[in-house]
Amino acid sequence: MRVARNIAELGTHDGVVGLVPTMGALHAGHVRLFDVARPECDTLVASVFVNPAQFGDTRDLDLYPRDLSADTAIAEEAGVDVLFAPSADEMYPARFATWVVPEGVAEGLEGAARPGHFRGVATVCLKLFNIVRPDLAWFGRKDAQQVAVLKQLARDLNVSVEIRVVDTVRDPDGLALSSRNARLSPDERQRALAIPRALATRDVEAARTILLHAGLDIDYVEVADLDGPTLAVAARAGATRLIDNVLLEGDPT
Ligand code: PAF
Repeated sequence: MRVARNIAELGTHDGVVGLVPTMGALHAGHVRLFDVARPECDTLVASVFVNPAQFGDTRDLDLYPRDLSADTAIAEEAGVDVLFAPSADEMYPARFATWVVPEGVAEGLEGAARPGHFRGVATVCLKLFNIVRPDLAWFGRKDAQQVAVLKQLARDLNVSVEIRVVDTVRDPDGLALSSRNARLSPDERQRALAIPRALATRDVEAARTILLHAGLDIDYVEVADLDGPTLAVAARAGATRLIDNVLLEGDPT
């Protein structure tokens, strides 16, 4: 596996190019994305970039785990061909002043709870699509609204990338894998298990009751159309904000 620290080092690739964009702190959820992507492409690129533009909260950005040598080992083991790990200056050089501001499916849920979040996600993903030029890109269903925003972006801005979605990977106790889980105390983790239990009810009011009973702070519990009707939750266990969702009807595409 090659590690490219800037756009020049990344170069261009022949055949079917696949991209798995990540913010690092790679876990089994990312490995699932690599495993699904690997047989579909000639060159599999994974990006590791903690995108400052999508964090409203500087504390969350500062606390975000960063360990490029661990990420390199995990990506290499999973058969990634190129790990693109640019610096913030490479992605946002001096005088950077052009942003993608998605509307439509980006409104509500995360868009309402984290103003500017999807502007950061859409901008960095469009940049990654332009830099890597992938034919296919894979994202996890845990971030269902993000997937819907990026499909909308590709459609609206004629980006020739096919967005693929992969089911959420869960720990045996049901908690969706997330880099933020590492910040949970044992008690918070126990209480966070109310999230998958709440989603299993497939009902907004029943879910809300379970989350409140577990002492979680609810940002939202809503049904939204994210590639089909989806029950989506954002809640805090202590200082750690977690999101998760369940598709209520249809197959994820
Ligand atoms: O889901 C993520 O890890 C990030 O939002 C992404 C897609 C890598 C953009 O920074």
